[in-house]
Amino acid sequence: MTDHYCVFGHPVNHSKSPVIHAAFAEQTGEDLEYSAIEAPLKNFAGAWKRFVAQGGKGANVTVPFKEDAFRLCDSLSDRAQRAKAVNTLIREAGGGTRGDNTDGLGLTRDLAHHRITVEGARILVLGAGGAVRGVLEPLLQARPKALFIANRTSEKAVRLAEDFRDLGEIAGGGYAEVEGRFDVVINGTSASLTGALPPLAETVFAPGATAYDMLYGAEPTVFLRWAARQGARPLDGLGMLVEQAAVSFQLWRGKRPDTQVVRERLHQLLNEK
Ligand code: ATR
Repeated sequence: MTDHYCVFGHPVNHSKSPVIHAAFAEQTGEDLEYSAIEAPLKNFAGAWKRFVAQGGKGANVTVPFKEDAFRLCDSLSDRAQRAKAVNTLIREAGGGTRGDNTDGLGLTRDLAHHRITVEGARILVLGAGGAVRGVLEPLLQARPKALFIANRTSEKAVRLAEDFRDLGEIAGGGYAEVEGRFDVVINGTSASLTGALPPLAETVFAPGATAYDMLYGAEPTVFLRWAARQGARPLDGLGMLVEQAAVSFQLWRGKRPDTQVVRERLHQLLNEK
């Protein structure tokens, strides 16, 4: 029997997740269907309940429901607990709902795919919202020399750094407090959505640095265009999207898909538009 999965978002019609999971299913020979469902803003739990009642086995969760998903789970992985956000829901054999968060592993796997070493590197993370909270644990587990979180509202960055202090060298503050040069600068703000550029000094990039935007689109974001002009290597979040999906797929189906072919297919799709 075909098992059903979906991605919940609002809006969700531009989601690439159905294409990615259909490709994973085909590749691994798994019999499943994966759709995109726009959940109502005020009743995410109701949408999940309905999906389960219709036989749904699991789901990905995207903006703006990751915290709602976190709250409805009966059990949580350690990394979801730490992130206070869930991007993967799993229907358990006993009937409960388990929550996990595969975003951070998606990011670190994508960095590894591009041969970017986090261990011993100086990492700057921009933003202190849900997207950043989800990736801090795996980043710190990769043992950077230092990780600084810069945010427009500096107190949020300070508090976030405190929450993760037991995992490694981490500090937070406002953009004016960013000091020195960094090997990897990760934009986890939503600034790119409005074409805004976080206020960084042009001297922020170390020689050979990478600029990473967790967002993606057909065109490079304003942050990536600016970073490339400063000599940094620009990377968008498409690879992270594919990698986090692969971790979710493995949680549901017990099989690890090959992400390379799916990366190539998605790049083609984006460039066709
Ligand atoms: P998400 O779940 O995508 O992380 P969020 O929790 O609303 O969304 O967080 C958005 C992040 O982008 C915040 O860090 C926000 O900064 P503030 O905490 O100061 O609001 C940041 N952000 C949004 N627009 C920005 C801009 N134009 N310049 C700099 N940072 C911006």
